[in-house]
Amino acid sequence: MAVIADRCPQVQVTVIDMNTDRIAAWNSNSLPVYEPGLAEVVQRARGRNLKFINQADGVQAIKEADAIFISVNTPTKTQGVGAGKASDLSYVESCARWIAQHAAGPKIIIEKSTMPVRTAERIKEILSQNNSTTRFDILSNPEFLAEGTAIRDLEKPERVLIGGESLEAVNALVDVYAQWVKPDLIITTGLWSAELSKLAANAFLAQRVSSINSLSALCEKTGAHVDEVAKVVGSDSRVGPKFLKASVGFGGSCFKKDILSLVYLCEFYSLPEVAHYWQQVIEINEWQKKRFAGKIIETVPAHGRVAILGLAFKKETNDFRESAAIDIVQYLLKAGLEVIAYDPKVKFGDFEKSLTTSGNLRSASTVSEALDGTNAVAILTEWEEFSSLDWKGFTSQLRNCSIIYDGRNITRMDETLAQKHNLRRIGVGN
Ligand code: UDX
Repeated sequence: MAVIADRCPQVQVTVIDMNTDRIAAWNSNSLPVYEPGLAEVVQRARGRNLKFINQADGVQAIKEADAIFISVNTPTKTQGVGAGKASDLSYVESCARWIAQHAAGPKIIIEKSTMPVRTAERIKEILSQNNSTTRFDILSNPEFLAEGTAIRDLEKPERVLIGGESLEAVNALVDVYAQWVKPDLIITTGLWSAELSKLAANAFLAQRVSSINSLSALCEKTGAHVDEVAKVVGSDSRVGPKFLKASVGFGGSCFKKDILSLVYLCEFYSLPEVAHYWQQVIEINEWQKKRFAGKIIETVPAHGRVAILGLAFKKETNDFRESAAIDIVQYLLKAGLEVIAYDPKVKFGDFEKSLTTSGNLRSASTVSEALDGTNAVAILTEWEEFSSLDWKGFTSQLRNCSIIYDGRNITRMDETLAQKHNLRRIGVGN
């Protein structure tokens, strides 16, 4: 929304949230999300045509709005029908009810959150049941930005997707994006295709990571190098080079949740074979994390200490939702190992709260502190700080350590240094 406000100064953008602390943070100099370039965009637009307000003050904004984006979270359901797989639409539904209660005059309602296919039908039903006098047109406009590169992805998107039934409503939203996006990059489709395409796009991306990660295990058995295999496979223009980086496992708020939602949809529409096919993308990911932790547990002495470098699910973000670090740390703690973790951006207290296993875990405020006296090092996030580490400078801290487990294949170990200090580097698939 900040980018829309930045790029369309003539459009008034009001962001409404029920969480008053979050709104206060959006109005402060310390934004609640770390994202390169975001602070500058907010700085430019806030107070001009971008406002952040509490839900209690939001009624007038709903009355006056021509278009309303629903951008609330759609987590995996924890109870009821489809628990563990289906998306929980309760926030979307309560949002629709609130909008219906206060809307007067025609509104375009835009699904921005990732939703299961045919959610628009349910939103339409709620809106018309709660407000029979207002005309509502529903559009699906899923977001393809990735965390860490969000501002770049929004400012120079590869495509913008707008699905809808009413041509007038679709064109109104096309006009907004056309302020800065070339028209041929704006794809318009039917509602159901737009809703399904978002799930499909994330499933395809995650599938690539699971495909290369599955082969990383075979590389380790055969002496093939996964980065070389990925280079060869990815240089075929029909495949392409991106998203073929073997890793400790994908994380983030989208991939697992969206594939589970896809799996549930397939089961719901009685397509068990299709459900099983996509479920395997998650199974390989879970296995990859377990396999990585297993290698560490096998070599570290009982009650030994492991230094974790990186808790975020990828670099350039403070987000650790579904991060591989959550599982790896828990596997290590369950095995009775001591864990000391460092991440340049993740708040350790929040990370610790997300764990369901307790044990000997603490945080370090620098890499050096994390490495001091450790028996093994595990790199779980590809932060530049870790790829550019000069291991020579840490040899005194690493005197008890014999192996660096590189879950991102980002480190290089100087041969002489490795021999002199009896250090080994074990990557993924090499
Ligand atoms: C993803 C999609 O990329 C984005 O289009 C969608 O809108 C939301 O979901 P995001 O979750 O922010 O974005 O991160 P992404 O860059 O896709 O990475 C997901 C995970 O896969 C990360 O843990 C990343 O480290 C991992 N990954 C990615 C790999 O392990 N190997 C790769 O080659 C690429």
